Amino acid sequence: MSKEEKAMPRRKFLQIGIGGLGAVIGLSYVGLAGDFLLPASANAQQLQEVGKVNDFTVGVPKLMVYKGSGGEEGMYVTNLGAEGWLALDFHCTHLQCAVNYEPSMKQYMCPCHGGVYDLKGNVLSGPPPKPLVRRVVQVQGDSVFLGGRLT
Ligand code: FES
Repeated sequence: MSKEEKAMPRRKFLQIGIGGLGAVIGLSYVGLAGDFLLPASANAQQLQEVGKVNDFTVGVPKLMVYKGSGGEEGMYVTNLGAEGWLALDFHCTHLQCAVNYEPSMKQYMCPCHGGVYDLKGNVLSGPPPKPLVRRVVQVQGDSVFLGGRLT
């Protein structure tokens, strides 16, 4: 077998490998784009029960875990009384650090760069460019369900 004949399978192997890698990268982008392009209702389909209404005190956020397709996600869930229910992703919108709720101030504080949000997730100060991401929350009977992104 000549040197050229040996090189052909190697070249073909590399072409297939590079093509396969390109396909994997392309599919990853398609998946990410779907998160942003799909309407909120499409992301809201995966409802999970996370507790009972009586587990929540009105006006006091409770940190809950939602098991999404990408793993466990932390969400602060609040019964706002007459204003309904609110679920907020616990990731800061600046660089995704986990925010903590400070009950004495009724604010979410980001430990990384000092971002501060109000009870409803609106930015009060610091570098966060936008409010905390809202998630689907529904009450059915006496059960509380969480779902995907709303914003
Ligand atoms: S990551 Fe929260 S303020 Fe920077």
